[in-house]
Amino acid sequence: MCGIVGYLGNKQACDLLIDALKRLEYRGYDSAGIAMWNNGAIETARRKGKVDDLRKAVSSGGFEGTMGLAHTRWATHGIPSERNAHPHTAGDITVVHNGIIENYIEIKERLRKDGHEFLSDTDTEVIPHLVTRYVEEGRSFVDAARAALKELKGSYAVGIIRKKERTLVAAKKESPLIVGVGDDEYFIASDAPAILDRTNRFIFLEDNDVVIFTEGSLVITDMEGNPVKRVVSTVAWTGAMAEKGGYKHFMLKEIFEQPRAIADTLIGRVMEEEGQVEFEDLSPPDLTKVRKIWMVACGTSYHACMIGKHMIEANLRIPVEADIASEFRYRNPILNKEDMLVLVSQSGETADTIAAMKEGKKRGVYTLGVCNVVGSTLARECDGVVFTHAGPEIGVASTKAFTTQISVLYMLMLYMGGKLHKMDRDRIKENIREMRKMPHKVQAILNISKSIEEIAGNFHKTKDFLYLGRGINYPAVQEGALKLKEISYIHAEAYAAGEMKHGPIALIDENLPVVVVSPNDSTYQKTCANIEEVLARRGKVLLFTDHESHEMASRVESVFTLPSTTYELQPLLSVIPLQLLAYYIANLLGTDVDQPRNLAKSVTVE
Ligand code: M6R
Repeated sequence: MCGIVGYLGNKQACDLLIDALKRLEYRGYDSAGIAMWNNGAIETARRKGKVDDLRKAVSSGGFEGTMGLAHTRWATHGIPSERNAHPHTAGDITVVHNGIIENYIEIKERLRKDGHEFLSDTDTEVIPHLVTRYVEEGRSFVDAARAALKELKGSYAVGIIRKKERTLVAAKKESPLIVGVGDDEYFIASDAPAILDRTNRFIFLEDNDVVIFTEGSLVITDMEGNPVKRVVSTVAWTGAMAEKGGYKHFMLKEIFEQPRAIADTLIGRVMEEEGQVEFEDLSPPDLTKVRKIWMVACGTSYHACMIGKHMIEANLRIPVEADIASEFRYRNPILNKEDMLVLVSQSGETADTIAAMKEGKKRGVYTLGVCNVVGSTLARECDGVVFTHAGPEIGVASTKAFTTQISVLYMLMLYMGGKLHKMDRDRIKENIREMRKMPHKVQAILNISKSIEEIAGNFHKTKDFLYLGRGINYPAVQEGALKLKEISYIHAEAYAAGEMKHGPIALIDENLPVVVVSPNDSTYQKTCANIEEVLARRGKVLLFTDHESHEMASRVESVFTLPSTTYELQPLLSVIPLQLLAYYIANLLGTDVDQPRNLAKSVTVE
C-alpha cells in the first residue's frame, strides 16, 4: 500500500525523506515521488519503479530544503506511471495521499466546469485542486485544506504543502498516519519503521485530526478548527530492529527471530507457579456471559484465527467461528450482545479487519484486538487489546507475527479457561510449562534449517505444490501454502488431508510434490492412509512429523522430524519448516522475497 513521509525541521530533508521511503518499501508500491519546499518554491520528482530510481533522479541537484513530502504509490486509480505517481500539484498546492477518495469523479467534474485541468488518472489529484480553489476564494492555507478535506468521502492520509508558506498540513481519516516528534523537528509517516532511526516518540493521530506544522511547533485540530489534544507516546521499537542485521532478507531474519518473539510475547503474562495467565490492562466484560467467540482477520492472521478456534473449542467447549474479514460484514453475521469478537492483525490497519471491528461495535459486541502495532487503528479502537510482541515485521510475508498471534490465542484460551473455571490450575500450569518450551523447540528446528534448504534445492523448479494437514494442522498447511505462493509465485494449494480424495487427488502424478504435516496424534494413521494414496499415484511426499519411526520413511521423498508437543501447540512448530521451505525456494528462484510482486504489507483499502 502507499507510503507517506514528510518532514519539517532544521535538517536538509531530501536524503532523509528518501531513506525513510526506502524503509516503507516493504509496504509494496509501484512508483515513488518527492516534493521539496525551498523558500517559496517547490521542486518535485516522480518515478515509476523503485525508490532507488527516484534517488537517482534527485541526485542531479535542485532538491534542497528543510521541509518536504515523499510518497510510494500502490496503484488503485490509474496505472502505475510517472504521471499518476504522487506528489500531485495544482496551483501552488502539492499533495501526497494514501487511501481512496470515493467521490472524486463528482468533484473532478465540478472542478472541470470551473476550468480546472487534471493531469493524472488518480483520485488524489482532486485534493490539490480543491485546496487551491478555496485559497483562491481568499481562505488561509490551513482553512482551505480543512474545507477541502471536509468534502472528501472515503479514506485518506494526506500531507499538503503550499509554495508561499513554510507550513505542512497533515490529516487522516481511515488510513494510517503518525507524527514523529524529534528535537525541533517533526515527521509524518504511514508507519513507525520509516522514521524509527530518527525518533521513537510518536503521536498516533485519530480520524479527522488535522495537524498544522510550522517552525518549531505543531497544532492539532478537528475538522472545524477546534484544538484537540493528543499525547506523545514513546515506543520500545528501535531503528536497529527494522534493519536486516546481516541476513539476506528481512523475511529470513524474522523467521529466525521467532524464538525471541514468542518468548517476548509470553513475558509477564504466564505465571507458571500460579497456573495463571494475565494480560496487562485487559478488562473484558463478564466472561461467563460469552456464548460464542468470533475470530476475524485476513490472510495469515486468519490462519491464526482458525488455529485459535481449534484450541478454544477443544478445551473450553465454547463455539468459535473463524471468519475472513472481507466476508464477515457482508453476510450479516448473527451477532449477539453476549458474543466476543476477536480481531487479529499484525498491522492493526487492515481495512477489512477494521471494518469487521466496526460492525461488531455497531452491534454492541465486545471487541478484542490481537495486534502487533502499538497505536494502530485496531489497537486504539477495540474495546480491549492484547499485543503480540513480535517487534517490527518488515517482510511482506508474515512469519513472526503469525507465531506470536498463535501464542496470544493460546494464552487467551488459558486465560478464559481459568476465569471460566473450565481448566483447573494444574492443567493451566502444565499448558504454561509446555508453552514456555516453545522458543527452544522453535530454535531446535531453526538449527537444522540446512536440511530444509536441501529439500528446497530439489523442488524449486516445480510448478505446483499440494499441502495436506488435518485438524489444527490444516490452517498450518494453509499458511505454508500461502507463504510459498506469496514469495515464490509457485502455485500451492492446501487441503484438509481427508478432502484429497474428493477432488485434488486427480492432480497427483510424479510431478506433484505433496507436503504433508502429520504429527503422531489421533489422526496420524488417517493421514498415513492419505500418504499411501499419494504414493500409489507416484506423487512425491515431503513429510513433516514428530513420529520417530515413521514406517514410510524409506518411501517418501524426505522426512523432516519435528519436536513433539501438545495438540494445541503443534502448528507453532509445524509452520516453521514450511516458512523455511517457502523462503529457500523463493531465494533459489531469485524473487524479491521481502517485496513480492503485487503484494502490500498492510492492505489499507478494501
Ligand atoms: O496486518 P494484518 O495481519 O491484518 O494483515 C493481514 C494480511 O494482509 C496478511 O497476513 C497477508 O496475508 C500477508 N501477506 C501474509 O504473509
